Amino acid sequence: MSNIYPGLEGVVFAETRLSHVDGQAGRLLLAGHPVEELAPRATFEEAAFLLQQGRLPDSQELASLQEDLEGRRSLPPITMRLLEEATAQGVPAMDALRLAVDSLVLALPAEKMPASPFPLEGLAVLARLPLLVAATYRLGRGERPLEPLSGESTAGLSTAAQLLYLLDGKQPSAERVRALDTYLVTVCDHSSNASTFTLRVIVSTRSDLLSALVGAIGALKGPLHGGAPGPALETVFEIGSAERAEKVLREKLARGERLMGFGHRVYKVYDPRARVLAQAAEALFAADADRELYALARHVEATALRLLEEHKPGRNLQTNVEFYTALLLHGLGLPTALFTPVFAIGRTAGWIAHGREQAAEGRLIRPSLKYVGP
Ligand SMILES: CC(C)(COP(=O)(O)OP(=O)(O)OC[C@H]1O[C@@H](n2cnc3c(N)ncnc32)[C@H](O)[C@@H]1OP(=O)(O)O)[C@@H](O)C(=O)NCCC(=O)NCCS
Repeated sequence: MSNIYPGLEGVVFAETRLSHVDGQAGRLLLAGHPVEELAPRATFEEAAFLLQQGRLPDSQELASLQEDLEGRRSLPPITMRLLEEATAQGVPAMDALRLAVDSLVLALPAEKMPASPFPLEGLAVLARLPLLVAATYRLGRGERPLEPLSGESTAGLSTAAQLLYLLDGKQPSAERVRALDTYLVTVCDHSSNASTFTLRVIVSTRSDLLSALVGAIGALKGPLHGGAPGPALETVFEIGSAERAEKVLREKLARGERLMGFGHRVYKVYDPRARVLAQAAEALFAADADRELYALARHVEATALRLLEEHKPGRNLQTNVEFYTALLLHGLGLPTALFTPVFAIGRTAGWIAHGREQAAEGRLIRPSLKYVGP
């Protein structure tokens, strides 16, 4: 009983079929699929089904999941009032999201049983997250939230298309929808990260999935977990032009600052998610967004990697997921305040599937503390 494992590092508490993170090889498997293969091709709905069922859906299964989601894309009036009050008070987007998700308990009694193999509470949240995120954004700018895209949409009906449309009311291009799908799939699961562990603890008490999802959102908000992609982009903006990159980054390192978007606790070779998102950002910026910013970001990345090798020789500090998350989401026109809420949309697919695994496991998670008091 006297061994203490701070942060529970190295402690394995359950088995999972959902994702495997191999930090030494720089590999991430999502239900058996390497992230590099799945994320650029699958839609977010396909990935959510994969995590839930352990295999990709056929066209009928996908259609029934999409129908389940589309049929739930409306908000209870009280949820809208909560969001209005939260934005009027300047409550940060993740707090508004947590409040609003909690209030979805009021939507549950009227909810139809799902046709797809998902829990009712999970679908209730998954379907409405794009509405909640976009409503928070628009209310914060003094604009009215929009109604979701309807069946005639040329962009197709999907979580990614709905979110992009609900932000600015413009039909998103296929390239932009693809880029957002790639992001959402890339971050949909990552083994026993802090928010997923939080969710599993709550599920293990036989509480309900909605409570567990609210707890997971609270954990994701923290800057050591999902709350930090903004600063990586701010560094690129601060640098502003390629010739300033080396000077600004050297000064940061000399002041003992960490370069945001580089290094990882688990990935010691490279973060495979960064590669996937770099390619998605390249495609998006070539088609749609600001090519100069993309070229600058590549230059900042190359300079940072060179200086980090000089600064910490042999430590192999590589680009992590946050650097290209920031670039990709910015290229999609999202403000930094929405980066973590959009991360929450992607991770909800993983959370719901972990809820199912944990419920099947059945054992209450209840580690111990060593008493050192009087
Ligand atoms: C992610 C992070 C917290 C991992 O930390 P960690 O596991 O302690 O990192 P390591 O053990 O590999 O660090 C090795 C050395 O490199 C340094 N280092 C790590 N990341 C660095 C960075 N981004 N910039 C400068 N130095 C860094 C550490 O300070 C450490 O130095 P020390 O041995 O003198 O203490 C860290 O890399 C970091 O703070 N990165 C920047 C923030 C970021 O991008 N976070 C998002 C992660 S997805």
